[in-house]
Amino acid sequence: MCPDPAMNSVVTSPELCVIEGDGIGREVIPAAIEVLMKVAPDVVIRPMPAGWAVFQERGTSLPEETIQMARDCKAVLFGAVSSPAYPVEGYFSPIVRLRRTLRAFANLRPAQHLPVPTSREGVDMLVVRENTEDLYIGHEHTENDGQTGIAEKVITRDATERVSRLTYSLAQRIGRKKITIVHKANVLSQSDGLFRRVALEVSAFYPEIITDELYVDTAAYWMVKDPSRFDIILTPNLYGDILSDMAAAWGGGLGLAPSLSLGDGIAIAEPVHGSAPDIAGKGIANPTAAILSVAMLLRHYWSRIEAADRIERAVRQTLAEGDYTADIYSQDSISTAQFTAQICANLV
Ligand code: NAI
Ligand code: MG
Repeated sequence: MCPDPAMNSVVTSPELCVIEGDGIGREVIPAAIEVLMKVAPDVVIRPMPAGWAVFQERGTSLPEETIQMARDCKAVLFGAVSSPAYPVEGYFSPIVRLRRTLRAFANLRPAQHLPVPTSREGVDMLVVRENTEDLYIGHEHTENDGQTGIAEKVITRDATERVSRLTYSLAQRIGRKKITIVHKANVLSQSDGLFRRVALEVSAFYPEIITDELYVDTAAYWMVKDPSRFDIILTPNLYGDILSDMAAAWGGGLGLAPSLSLGDGIAIAEPVHGSAPDIAGKGIANPTAAILSVAMLLRHYWSRIEAADRIERAVRQTLAEGDYTADIYSQDSISTAQFTAQICANLV
């Protein structure tokens, strides 16, 4: 049914491993589940623990039973976790570990114009970020008595090929026209040079899709100057992390930015934002990013296009009616619960 090997999980009654995490993860994920249950009431919800609070209680940020449940369900909804900015013995980022353990090798981050004052007209792009390697393998050490820090950047043919194939077949399936390969092969000829070469090899199998390329610094320039020139961006992990946050600003802000990580028969839906400790517990977080992440899961993984369309229409309608959480417009803003209720009311 789907040409994409990563998207072959058409099941009748899907199970979803739900990890709220820390901070506003505990507020936006219940909101997203409330909306999901309205459009797909057959989905079986499996709540599981992970995050900083879990680490403090149990000495691990990602308990083994959570990983097992994620594997069994083959689909995860992940809120956000708080990670300390200083090294903590035994702590690792559960989302980075989960993506790697489940081999969710491609991270899809769309940025689209939405009817809010913070969003830019004409923007409709998708950043596809390689999700398993690059500088994020975490191989770092110091030399010279701690005065030199060294991090390894790893790019492999295998990982580049699978993310490139997924990107091109996805572009074909959803009717996208252009893919821009973003790298820095002029300076990093062995690592980014390999990424560029392999991505271009894959592009040769898709002559109907326009392929171009940009150095990452030039891509950043154009991302600010004229974001409407981008359709799909295909890029290694670190550049994808940075560029997709820039793109999220044009979409209207972090509170509106969804993402989906895909692998072979596995998907992790995750808002781009973090645990937002500055607003956690106040009931004012914007649940749109989490809700749109659920829509991505429905569309790209469970192939429930109608349900995904319903959610996206309801989100647009709610925003178009001027119902905003405080991150979008601080005057007359409404709470997470009120906003979610409005989206549910607008589901047609
Ligand atoms: P953040 O995304 O949590 O917050 C950045 C700013 O955006 C804050 O002012 C916050 O209030 C606002 N914001 C974010 N999401 C929002 C929403 N849904 N509604 C309204 N406002 C929203 O990033 P920050 O502050 O850099 O990181 C906070 C913590 O989150 C850190 O511990 C960081 O490690 C973690 N983090 C976790 C991620 C994950 O679990 N996937 C991703 C990014 C950060
Ligand atoms: Mg990021």
